[in-house]
Amino acid sequence: MMAAAAVNTHAAAPSGLSASDPAELLAAVLRANAGTPNARLKQVMDALIRHAHAFALEVDLTSAELDLGMDFLVRMGQASGPHKNEGILLADILGLATLAQLRGAREALAQGGTEPALVGPFWRAHQPVRANGESIAASDTPGAPLHVRGRVCSLDGTPLAGARVETWQASPQGLYENQDPEQEDMNLRGVFLTDAEGGFHFHSVRPAGYPVPVDGPCGELLAAQGRGIMRPAHLHFIVVADGHKVLATQYFDIEDPHAHEDVVFGAVGSLLRRFEPDGRGGFGLDIELRVEPGETRLPHCPLP
Ligand SMILES: [Fe+2]
Repeated sequence: MMAAAAVNTHAAAPSGLSASDPAELLAAVLRANAGTPNARLKQVMDALIRHAHAFALEVDLTSAELDLGMDFLVRMGQASGPHKNEGILLADILGLATLAQLRGAREALAQGGTEPALVGPFWRAHQPVRANGESIAASDTPGAPLHVRGRVCSLDGTPLAGARVETWQASPQGLYENQDPEQEDMNLRGVFLTDAEGGFHFHSVRPAGYPVPVDGPCGELLAAQGRGIMRPAHLHFIVVADGHKVLATQYFDIEDPHAHEDVVFGAVGSLLRRFEPDGRGGFGLDIELRVEPGETRLPHCPLP
């Protein structure tokens, strides 16, 4: 008796739907999500379902187009591995990674905190710890000299001594060392500890911009959209200070031809900077990294 009732209940839901009413279908899918025990997952799936249905209605999505989209996701997975992540790239080229980061930092930004930017796929674990004033460039790295001077402070301006500043950048040829057999292992990477005044400085060479990897489905999408594939020249930073949230950011060369068309939308506002000529053929960059008090939680490091 009970089994029969259960079967009937199960059968009633789909057959009760009106084939021509998308609102009824949406309501049924939302009801199916209603029992999700994890409250945050329920909220996220609820919104995803509503927006996905609205999207399909807006563009009048055909079954063939849906298949194409699902095939795109499968090929994204197939193109990914330990050293390449098409998922991160898709979130980047859709501007979603930047949006999530800026939203996460909105309280700090309202109080003058440094703008965040993507960690990106090239940060490596175990970057070499270097003394203040050292160069991160191996002596045979060609390029214009660059002197970076920085200061780490809390939102209220208090200097933070002993903060850990990680930096990494592409070469003047636009390649990270792990992409380029010509460069030494860990070239153009370093970790610096701030002094009593929160200061750190290091020497390097002026980086160049580079294209995002376009040999996967995301590359096909960018081509189909007729979009550029370049990121403007930049230096990456991650700041880890006790009692403060971790800041990941990048500083961009405003004179780069792609300064205002970063394919991953990371080059925002105050992060676009002029690398000041020092009159001797080199350049200087002065930065202040203002971090928000909170829990220190390191982002995932994508590379060994
Ligand atoms: Fe980068």
